Amino acid sequence: MRKLIKTVTESRVWRSFFRHGWPDNPLDRSLVMTTNIFFHLHPVKISRKSLRSSYSLGLGVISVIVFGILSFTGLLLMFYYVPSVERAYSYILLLQTRVPFGQLLRNMHRWGAHLMVIVVVLHMARVFYTGAYKPPREFNWVIGVVLLILTLAASFTGYLLPWDQLAYWAITVGTSVAAYEPLMGDSIRAILLGGSEVGQEALTRFYAFHILIIPGAIASLISLHLWRVRKDGGLAAQDAVKIEPEALQGTDNE
Ligand code: HEM
Repeated sequence: MRKLIKTVTESRVWRSFFRHGWPDNPLDRSLVMTTNIFFHLHPVKISRKSLRSSYSLGLGVISVIVFGILSFTGLLLMFYYVPSVERAYSYILLLQTRVPFGQLLRNMHRWGAHLMVIVVVLHMARVFYTGAYKPPREFNWVIGVVLLILTLAASFTGYLLPWDQLAYWAITVGTSVAAYEPLMGDSIRAILLGGSEVGQEALTRFYAFHILIIPGAIASLISLHLWRVRKDGGLAAQDAVKIEPEALQGTDNE
C-alpha cells in the first residue's frame, strides 16, 4: 500500500496538480497559497488581527457575493425581458404572474440591488473607520469610489427597465437633474437619453448600460480591487506589536 501511495504521489500526473509536499513547513505552506487559484488571492502572510470577523465584518466579500447573485438573477431575467416601450411592462407582468418563480426572481434582483448599495456603503464606512484608506491603499480607495458610483449607476439604469409610471417619471426627474451639471450637463442628458425625452432610445441605452457596460466595468474593477488588496499586503489590520528600535539592538534583526 505504501509503495502504491509513493508511486501515485511521485507520478508526473500527481505532481502536475500538487507542486509541493505536505504543508508541514513554512516553504510548503507558502507554496500552497501561491499555487492555488483560490488561495493565491490572499497574500502569503497576513496579520492575525485581519482574520477577526469583527475587523472587516466581511462586508467586501458580502458585496462580491451580492454582485454574483445580481449577475445570476439578471441573466435569468434576460430570458424574459424585452427592452421595448410597447412590450417591456407587459412582459414584466407576465414574468410575475405566469412564469414559475418569476415573482421570486424579480424580487431577488430588486432587493439584491438595494442590499448591494447598503453593503457597499457600509464597507466604505468600515474602510474609513479602520483608516484602511491611508497609504499604500489610497489607490484602492479610489477604485472603491468608482465601484460605489458604478453600483449606484447600475441601480439607476435598472430602475427604468420595467417601464411603469414610477420608472418613467423617476428617470425623467433623474436625467433632468443631471442636466444641471455645470459645462457637460446637457451632453450627459443627451448621451443617457439618446434624444430630448425619455423614450425608446433611452430604454435601449439604459438596457445596454445595465446589462453589459456597467456590470462589465464592475466585474473588471472588482478583480483589480482584490488584486490590489493582495499586493498591498492584505487587509490593513496590523497585530498590535510595536517593537522599539532599542529592543532590536544586539539581535540579528538590527
Ligand atoms: C462593488 C463594490 C465593492 C466590492 C465588491 C469590494 C470588495 C472588497 C473586498 C472583498 C475587500 C477585502 C475584504 C474586506 O475588506 O471585506 C475589500 C477591501 C477594500 N476596499 Fe472594497 N469593495 C467595494 C467597494 C469599495 C468602496 C466603495 C471603497 C471605498 C471608497 C472600498 C475600499 C476598499 C479598501 C481601501 C480596501 C482594503 C481594506 C483594508 O486593507 O483593510 N471598496 N473590498
